[in-house]
Amino acid sequence: MSMLPTITISKPAPIKKGAALLVAPEGVDIAKLAGDLDGEGVLARAAELAEFSGKAKTVLDVLAPAGSPASRIVVGQGKPEDASESGWIALGGAPRGALAKEGLVTLVASEGMDAAAIACFAQGYLMRAYTFDKYKTAKNGQNGKPKAQKLTIHSANTTAAKSAWRDAEAVARGVMLARDLVNEPANILGTEEFAARGEALEALGVETDILDEKKMKKLGMGALLGVAQGSVRPPRMLVMKWNGGKAKDKPVAFVGKGVVFDTGGISIKPAGGMEDMKGDMGGAAAVVGLMHALAARKASVNAIGLIGLVENMPDGNAQRPGDIVTSMSGQTIEVINTDAEGRLVLADALTYCNQTFEPSVMIDLATLTGAVMVALGQHHAGLFSNDDAVAESLTQAGAQSGEKVWRLPLGPDYDKMIDSKFADMKNIGGRNAGSITAAQFLKRFVGDTPWAHLDVAGTAMSSPSSDFNRSWGSGFGVRLLDRWVRDNHEG
Ligand code: BES
Ligand code: MN
Ligand code: ZN
Repeated sequence: MSMLPTITISKPAPIKKGAALLVAPEGVDIAKLAGDLDGEGVLARAAELAEFSGKAKTVLDVLAPAGSPASRIVVGQGKPEDASESGWIALGGAPRGALAKEGLVTLVASEGMDAAAIACFAQGYLMRAYTFDKYKTAKNGQNGKPKAQKLTIHSANTTAAKSAWRDAEAVARGVMLARDLVNEPANILGTEEFAARGEALEALGVETDILDEKKMKKLGMGALLGVAQGSVRPPRMLVMKWNGGKAKDKPVAFVGKGVVFDTGGISIKPAGGMEDMKGDMGGAAAVVGLMHALAARKASVNAIGLIGLVENMPDGNAQRPGDIVTSMSGQTIEVINTDAEGRLVLADALTYCNQTFEPSVMIDLATLTGAVMVALGQHHAGLFSNDDAVAESLTQAGAQSGEKVWRLPLGPDYDKMIDSKFADMKNIGGRNAGSITAAQFLKRFVGDTPWAHLDVAGTAMSSPSSDFNRSWGSGFGVRLLDRWVRDNHEG
C-alpha cells in the first residue's frame, strides 16, 4: 500500500535536522513564531517575496534557510477562529503536498491549536499522504524507492494531544481502508474477498458473521439473490458487531450496498466509463471503514455494520426484465430494469438487519443512482429519511465533518410511482425523480424503524481532489458517521 508517514507526538524540543512545519494563524509574525529556526532571519523576506498573505491553506516553502538547523521550513497558514474540524483537516492536508519527499518532518503546533485541532491537522496530513499505488511496479518515491516519513508533532500538552490523536488516527485508518476497498479492481475484490477484508476487523474486537447463499435462500432473500444469480461469484452478507456500549442499549445499524461490480446485468450499461462500476461497493466500503474506526477508537456504542455483497452480471442464468422476485419481507418486486440492482440488494439487507437486531436507528449508504449526481453534483450526498431528528443530526454531522449531505423529499406521490401492474412494486419509477423513487423503494423495507438513506453515488468515487484527498475512492461516509455516532450515540 502507499507509504504512509508514521506520526508521533512529543514535548517541544529544539529541531536539529529535517524539515520544519509551522502553522501560522493569520496575521501572526512568522519570524517570531519560528524563533531560532529562522537562523539568519530569512522568513519575513521569503513571505514578502512569495506574497504569503495569510490566506487559509496556502503554503510558504523555504528550502535551505540560511543559518537554520532545519533543511527546509514550510509554513502552513491557519486561521483558528473559523477552523472547524474539516477546516483543520484541510489545513493539515495542504502542506503534506510540499513535504511528500522529506524523510523527517517536525510540526511545531502554534498556540492557537488545541489538542483537537492538532489531531485534525495530523488527520488531514495522513489522509493526504494516502495513495493507491500497489499496481504501479515502479513506485514514485525518490530514486524510484518509496520513502518512509517520520512526522513528529511538538505540543506542550502532549497527553491531551496524544489522546485526541489516538481517536483521529483510528478514523483516518477507517477512511483509508474504505478508499482501498473502493479503489481495488473487481477482479481482485470479489464478493468473497470483500467479505474476508471485513472479517479481518475481528483483530480489533469486532464480531463478524458471514451469511452464504444457502443461508440467504433459507431466509428467503429473493431480491438480493436475483441480482447475484448472473455471476459466478456467490453472494455474501457480512455482519459486523461492535459492542462498545451498555449491554441493554439497542444498537445503531449501518447497512451498505456492496455491488462489487455493476455491469447493469441484462439491462446492460454502455461501455464508456463502465470501469467506474468497480466502485459500486462504496457504501459497503464506508460501513467497513466506519466499523474499523469505531472499534479502533473503542467507541462507547453498540453498532451493527451489515453489507450485502453481490456482482451484477449478464449471463445465461441472469435475471430478466419482467422477472418477479419475492423479498425476505414477503413483498414481491417486478424487476423492470436489472440495472436498478442496488435497491434489490438493500431491500433484503434492511429487512434482515431490522428483524435480527431491532436497531434503534438504521442508516444505509449506497452508490444508488446516477440521478443524485444530476441533483447535487459531487459535493453533497443525498439524504432521505423517515425521521426529522435523524435527518437533522446527520446534516449537523455533515457540516462538522465536511462530508456534507442534503435532504431530499419523500412522500406518497413519489411512492405511487413504483407501484407495479403485476407485483407489489417495481424496481424503477421512471426518469423523473430517480433518486427519490429509489429511496421510496427502500422505505418499503424499514417498517417503523427510524431510518436514513445516503445516496453516495456522487461522493464515494471519482472524487474531486481536495487538500486531504487525492484518491479516486474518497472513503466518504466514514468521518460523517463517526462524527454522528460521537455526537448522538456515545456517553
Ligand atoms: N450503481 C448505479 C448508480 C451509479 C451510477 C453509481 C453512476 C455511481 C455512478 C446503479 O446501480 C444504477 O445503475 N442506477 C441506475 C438506476 C436506473 C436504472 C433506474 C441509474 O442511476 O441509471
Ligand atoms: Mn446498476
Ligand atoms: Zn449499482
